[in-house]
Amino acid sequence: MPEGPSFPHLFSELTIGRVTLKNRVVSSGHDTVMAEDGLVTDRLIAYHEARAAGGVGLIVVQAAGVHESARYTSHVLMVSDDSCIPGYRQLAEALHPHGCAVFGQLFHPGREIMESQDGSAPVALAPSAVPTERFHVMPRALPVDLLHEIVAGYGGGARRLREAGLDGAEIVASHGYLPAQFLNPRVNHREDGYGGGAEGRLRFLREAISAVRTEAGRDFVLGLRISADERSHDGLTPDEALAACRALDADGDLDYVSVVAGTSATLAGSVHIVPPMSEPNAYTVPLAAVVKGVVRVPVMVAGRINQPQEAERAIEAGQVDACAMTRALICDPLLPVKAKTGRSEEIRACIGCNQACIGHFHAGYPISCIQHPETGRELAYGTLVPTTSARDVMVVGGGPAGLKAAAVAAARGHRVTLYERSRRVGGQVLLGQELPGRAEFGGAVPNLLGEAQQAGVRIVTDTRVDRALVEAERPEVVVVATGARPRRPKLELTGEPVVLDAWQVISGDEAPAGHVVVADWRCDWIGMGVAELLAHRGHRVTLAVDGYTPGQRVQQYVRDTMLAAVYRSGVRVIPTVRVYGADASSVYLQHTLTGEAVVVDEVAALVLAQGHEPVDGLLEELAGYEGEVRAIGDCLAPRTVEEAVLEGLVVASEL
Ligand SMILES: Cc1cc2nc3c(=O)[nH]c(=O)nc-3n(C[C@H](O)[C@H](O)[C@H](O)COP(=O)(O)O)c2cc1C
Ligand code: SF4
Repeated sequence: MPEGPSFPHLFSELTIGRVTLKNRVVSSGHDTVMAEDGLVTDRLIAYHEARAAGGVGLIVVQAAGVHESARYTSHVLMVSDDSCIPGYRQLAEALHPHGCAVFGQLFHPGREIMESQDGSAPVALAPSAVPTERFHVMPRALPVDLLHEIVAGYGGGARRLREAGLDGAEIVASHGYLPAQFLNPRVNHREDGYGGGAEGRLRFLREAISAVRTEAGRDFVLGLRISADERSHDGLTPDEALAACRALDADGDLDYVSVVAGTSATLAGSVHIVPPMSEPNAYTVPLAAVVKGVVRVPVMVAGRINQPQEAERAIEAGQVDACAMTRALICDPLLPVKAKTGRSEEIRACIGCNQACIGHFHAGYPISCIQHPETGRELAYGTLVPTTSARDVMVVGGGPAGLKAAAVAAARGHRVTLYERSRRVGGQVLLGQELPGRAEFGGAVPNLLGEAQQAGVRIVTDTRVDRALVEAERPEVVVVATGARPRRPKLELTGEPVVLDAWQVISGDEAPAGHVVVADWRCDWIGMGVAELLAHRGHRVTLAVDGYTPGQRVQQYVRDTMLAAVYRSGVRVIPTVRVYGADASSVYLQHTLTGEAVVVDEVAALVLAQGHEPVDGLLEELAGYEGEVRAIGDCLAPRTVEEAVLEGLVVASEL
């Protein structure tokens, strides 16, 4: 592993076209859900400015529609008319003083329409009327006059970005969007010169590139984003993608290629758009290295590069010229400056949970980060405000809520002591990391603990706090963050069945050999993870979910990789059932739609994944305490790490 604080290759300049980047750390295009009416907002500018101030070399601003038919979500940015110019100009003017280059993305989704503007389904367009599996959309084959309009849209969009002062743009031909649909012989069945052989399938992209050059000039940087492997049963293959890169590079009109994997068209392919923690770090680097072998222009890559060491290694080995570290920067905007100045151990590493970044995007909310809720909230929480009256703060509970509250309160200048009942801080994260494929989730603990320690929080473990201890310490503020325990709903149990809760199984308690039913109410990570864990331990497993599917509440790419693992491990799934009882050999379920009984026989144990209930005893005990008492996280209402950390930030900012 490359050593040394400065990462010499990562922090060397890179010239792309007429632009020289100060380093090779890139924030690749990512929809922030911060655009309004298709335009750049103050919130979006503040978001990117935090990353520019943190030292990133290049920011590629999110996908922007080049034509009215490109509105694939209700919140996409648009470059289809001149009204976009002032907002982009403000953005460029905010980022450039930090020495950060700014590119835009020229985007058309083709058939990949995710949502509509008003609830009615728009007409999706594609090279041919070939449906997309994931969004269940049957597109219309593009009439040639409309095709020409869209091609012109790439040129017009680039001209506007140039007028706004951006340094360049890239055509989004990745992830199965419109240009990739033209390249793909299984999606493009045209016989009018835009299909047929490989040359015909390249024509759309060539005309779009030419329109950009005509409208924005040869000295405006132009890149191509492409999935070097769409990883889908009918996606663009590595050979096809490579041939397109080779041909377009040979034309001489591109300045760089940005390599990713995956496609929006299928569930399995879309996982790679924002690969979750189950994908290895930097796993797309070999794909990019192959592209680099056939093109003359610089190549960048994105895909789970979350630490400077990985980026340095790929660049030093000559596999790529620059590395997108997109979620790494969503999670820690200061990553570049920390890496460059020998403070890499302070980097808050992205754990690939996908919950508040792409999870928020899919739910239609501005993106954030579960470990760094300041992200996306820069206007409210972007600047740490030192306190003018330092107070003694006792934080009770060393889970994510308590750790974040303690870290921020101490960083603001308060005198903070954090008490944790058990030997280790981390709360439920310590259990979550034990689920199959979820080890990286545990990274949230050292990240949060590091922040607290660095801010000067005094940490006391193995200590249970009660009112007497509070009275003895007399803190001016008590922040109660005592978390939650497993919920055991009232069940009809006869004949002494073996009933365990998910926490016991994760902690290593063995169920009796044989068939185990996991009754999953929350439809989150725990039910799926425990079912897989039990299957690995040799049990026959039935996963009974009180929802449409296991993982219903989990971000799609995470859910789908976990679901695949559940099916692969032979777990039987019963959807839409609630658990109401068990006896020594059967579990009694009820269908949530029909009300009919569903009995599972020959069962050795029932495992409950029925959510949690708050541990709020201390809160009650402290009624009438003379100091300020605040409660955050699961002890208020059991939710997830995201809400816990956010509430820690909010409460500490208010003290
Ligand atoms: C919230 C979110 C939105 C994204 N939107 C886009 C987009 O607009 N255009 C694009 O080309 N890629 C988009 N991506 C993909 C990223 O550019 C990047 O390829 C991906 O996050 C993998 O890189 P990472 O592992 O460094 O995060 C998005 C990613 C995230 C997390
Ligand atoms: S929410 Fe999770 S995946 Fe997204 S940036 Fe934060 S740590 Fe990374």
